[in-house]
Amino acid sequence: MSAEDWKRQAAERALTFVRPGMKLGLGTGSTAAHFVDLLGARVKAGLDVVCVPTSEATRKQAEALGIALTTLEKTPRLNLTVDGADEFDIELRLIKGGGGALLREKIVAAASGQMVVIADMSKKVDRLGHFALPVEVVPFGLESTKLHIAVQAEDAGCLGTITLRLAPGGTPFVTDNGNFILDCAFGSIPEPEILADALGVIPGVVEHGLFLGIADVIIVAGPGGVEVLSLGDEELD
Ligand code: A5P
Repeated sequence: MSAEDWKRQAAERALTFVRPGMKLGLGTGSTAAHFVDLLGARVKAGLDVVCVPTSEATRKQAEALGIALTTLEKTPRLNLTVDGADEFDIELRLIKGGGGALLREKIVAAASGQMVVIADMSKKVDRLGHFALPVEVVPFGLESTKLHIAVQAEDAGCLGTITLRLAPGGTPFVTDNGNFILDCAFGSIPEPEILADALGVIPGVVEHGLFLGIADVIIVAGPGGVEVLSLGDEELD
């Protein structure tokens, strides 16, 4: 079985959290795309749900599948968000934003009663930070903001290269919100909460990819099958 098969298995299990009439947040990325695909098949078969996408890419996919969409303006509270992650640890702390959608992903997850994360085994880490932490910043004052991040991160025990994310053509990658992404290759984030607090107060930082205390359940698929992790570290069926 390949990583794609495991992503699909995790997405299939996430469907068991969906009930008719639910208002759903739809994540972004290759794993979330499997979920949207499977949800689309259920909608075709008559499932009644309404969804808020976390990116323009997911919006397009969901629209093509005939999934009813809404906005947080019309529907400010959602029942459940299903999304992927770039890394997670045993405390269900995440790094997200590899696809550049972290701001909308965090807003949508925070508007949801429950966040279920779907991932293959490769995303599980002992300590967050091997995946470069994406930080969304406004273009104005980019170099000052970058310097500020480096100083705050060092105070939080994180050292590493901070790189402006580029699009395939070599120009800066621009998020759905018109911002840039700085990828912070710290290698290891010893205290994610301290780093998150420090990043949160820097002018010019719109949002960072640390999702702490947000995920309720992580469905992880790998060679050993599908595991469902939840807070309190108990394993569910
Ligand atoms: C999008 O911005 C990200 O947060 C994704 O959820 C994350 O990068 C996981 O993507 P994959 O499922 O493609 O690994």
